[in-house]
Amino acid sequence: MSRFPVVRPRRLRRTPALRRLVAETHLVPAQLVLPMFVKEGATAPVPIGSMPGQVQHSRDSLRRAVSDAAAAGIGGVMLFGVPAERDATGSAACRPEGILNVALADAAAEAGDALVVMGDLCLDEFTDHGHCGVLDTRPGRTGDVDNDATLEHYRAMAVAQAEAGAHLLGLSGMMDGQTAAVREALDAAGHDHVALLAYAAKYASAFYGPFREAVDSQLTGDRRAYQLDPANRREGLREAVLDVEEGADVVMVKPAGSYLDVLADVAATSEVPVWAYQVSGEYAMIEAAAAQGWLDRRRTVAESVLAIRRAGADAILTYWAIELAGWLREEI
Ligand code: PBG
Repeated sequence: MSRFPVVRPRRLRRTPALRRLVAETHLVPAQLVLPMFVKEGATAPVPIGSMPGQVQHSRDSLRRAVSDAAAAGIGGVMLFGVPAERDATGSAACRPEGILNVALADAAAEAGDALVVMGDLCLDEFTDHGHCGVLDTRPGRTGDVDNDATLEHYRAMAVAQAEAGAHLLGLSGMMDGQTAAVREALDAAGHDHVALLAYAAKYASAFYGPFREAVDSQLTGDRRAYQLDPANRREGLREAVLDVEEGADVVMVKPAGSYLDVLADVAATSEVPVWAYQVSGEYAMIEAAAAQGWLDRRRTVAESVLAIRRAGADAILTYWAIELAGWLREEI
């Protein structure tokens, strides 16, 4: 008489030691990147209501946070600027004394060799209309974001960030040709060593909601005329391929949790590292449910990031980077 069942997958789940030995996915602090906001003129950190635990930093508190990030052993920081004044072309983005550029210089000085310091390369925080580029003024096109005119601004913004000391620039504007344009501008200005992270597959997502508060966004309307349609999977892969052809050193999928299929597709074929951005709405949802006692906060946060890694991300941008790094160290 044969005994049933013969195959018993539960054998390898029996003890913590067995489970640890057969785990297919590992997460370490070096794979985490912390996005941070810095507000011009702030004298103390300003809490972001829809992102409990996150703040708009002052220049001083940003330096302290960068030092905490280095002590936590995470991979890097990604900075977003919140300027005091905005205009139609987002001109503060390109000025050396613009808030993002001074913050990048502060962070690079504080980080030394311990962290990769990254700048968000997009105009939306700096324009008075809140779009990621300059608007088209030609008859019949009024109000559209002008792709090629925007590229000229991205070129100047990239050189300003490189001159401030950024190690890697995050191209999040979703203009066609942005990676090639920025690469060319950096190389012409002698910044061939500065790396480019292309937000290759950035979807027009409702999960960016809390970010709008985080950067005091002026946007009315949406970004569907330049960010990807959430319905499209193949198009995400196509964007990643194009960005690599244009010279991207790293490609990104964003948001992460609701786009794991796209992430897995890109990870399966990419010849460059693939990162994912767990965005503000993903953060806010778990924080809100945990605050109600509906979810176990630590377990849910850890699982949400591990799942992104399992789907194929080599590194993950997450607002929990420092806290999660602490938990990961405890587990070792
Ligand atoms: C645009 C940008 C956005 C985010 C990162 N870069 C907002 C948008 O595209 O609307 C969202 C990040 C988040 O929600 O955490 N510069």
